[in-house]
Parts: sequence; structure tokens; C-alpha cells
Amino acid sequence: MVIAVYPGTFDPVTNGHLDIIHRATRLFDKLIVAVASNKGKDPLFSNHERIKLIQSSIAELPCQNKIQVLGFDTLLVDFCKQHQANVILRGLRAVSDFEYEFQLSGMNKKLNKEIETLFLPTTEQNAYISSSLVKEIARLGGDISEFIPSNVRAELLIKIS
Ligand code: COA
Repeated sequence: MVIAVYPGTFDPVTNGHLDIIHRATRLFDKLIVAVASNKGKDPLFSNHERIKLIQSSIAELPCQNKIQVLGFDTLLVDFCKQHQANVILRGLRAVSDFEYEFQLSGMNKKLNKEIETLFLPTTEQNAYISSSLVKEIARLGGDISEFIPSNVRAELLIKIS
């Protein structure tokens, strides 16, 4: 039984994240989407709101019964251990992501050598999406419908209005 944890801040979840989640359900027996409190990033949505947005966004996915969405406020490796997960899954969008991801995976390996980090390359149409950019475009009145699901878009527009 391979349990993978897909961690992130998800402020808010984007089509890029959902693409990774969808593809990961074909690879692992169970996928835990782990929503980091990440107070350092001063998220726009509360942890509870970010979890709810992911839950409603994955409701239509095939294999959604394999996915669990949970919040966490601890070390990622401790969260993985607590949930018997042996894989940390991260999406890679561009070469620029690599340095940070390499450091993160190396440090997590130092903290717990039983847990492997695996990377999935983002599909081309999602390569430029980031949650911060989506929020900025929304604040400035741009069209974000291509980047996030409609339920998330509706909540984001309410939040920033
Ligand atoms: N498609 C679109 N966007 C993507 C993406 C994808 N496939 N993958 C990542 N992104 C974007 C995110 O939207 C985010 O954008 P933003 O910075 O504009 O908000 C950015 O890439 C990266 O953020 P995210 O994937 O949310 O990760 P993060 O860097 O915010 O969080 C954690 C990293 C949560 C994994 C890390 O902080 C962590 O492990 N925290 C727990 C504490 C811990 O263990 N610390 C020690 C680590 S060694």
C-alpha cells in the first residue's frame, strides 16, 4: 500500500494542483492532500477554507475516494509518519522550481530517510500558474477562469471584493 502526501499551501488551489492530484490518483493507493497552515505566507484563505475549496474541487474527479484532504501545522515528515505515508509528491513547473524543491527534498530526507520525494512534471498549460499570480490577476480585474475551477474563482472574487 503506497500512501503519498501532496503538500502545499494551496492559497487557493489551482488547475495546476488539481492536475497533479488527478494524475497522482493513478499512481498511488491513497493520496493525502496536506494543506500547510504556512503562516509565514500570510494566506488569504484560512486553513479550513483552503481545505473546503480543495474538497469541493475534487468532488468530480474519478478516484476521488482515494483522496483525503487534511490540514497540518507540523513538520511535513512528522505528518507523513503520522499517516503512514512513504512518499512526498511535489509538482515541478519549471527549472526554476528545481533548486527549491531539491533543497526541500534533501532536508526532508535528512529528517526522515524512510520517506521518498517524487516529482511530477506539470502539464504544459499549467506551467505558468501560481496561486500568487492568480490572486494578483484577480485583484486587478483580470480573467482567471482558465487557471482555477469555477467554485474557487467565485470564492476568490468574494474574498477580494
Ligand atoms: N501548478 C500550479 N502551481 C503550482 C504547482 C502546480 N502544479 N505546484 C506549485 N505551485 C505553486 C503554488 O501555487 C505556489 O504559488 P505561490 O508561491 O504563488 O503561492 C508555489 O508554486 C509553491 O507553493 P506550494 O506548492 O504551495 O508549496 P509551498 O512552497 O508554499 O509549501 C511546503 C511548501 C508546505 C511543502 C513546505 O513549506 C512544508 O513542508 N512545510 C511544512 C513545515 C516543514 O516541514 N518544514 C521543513 C521543510 S524541510
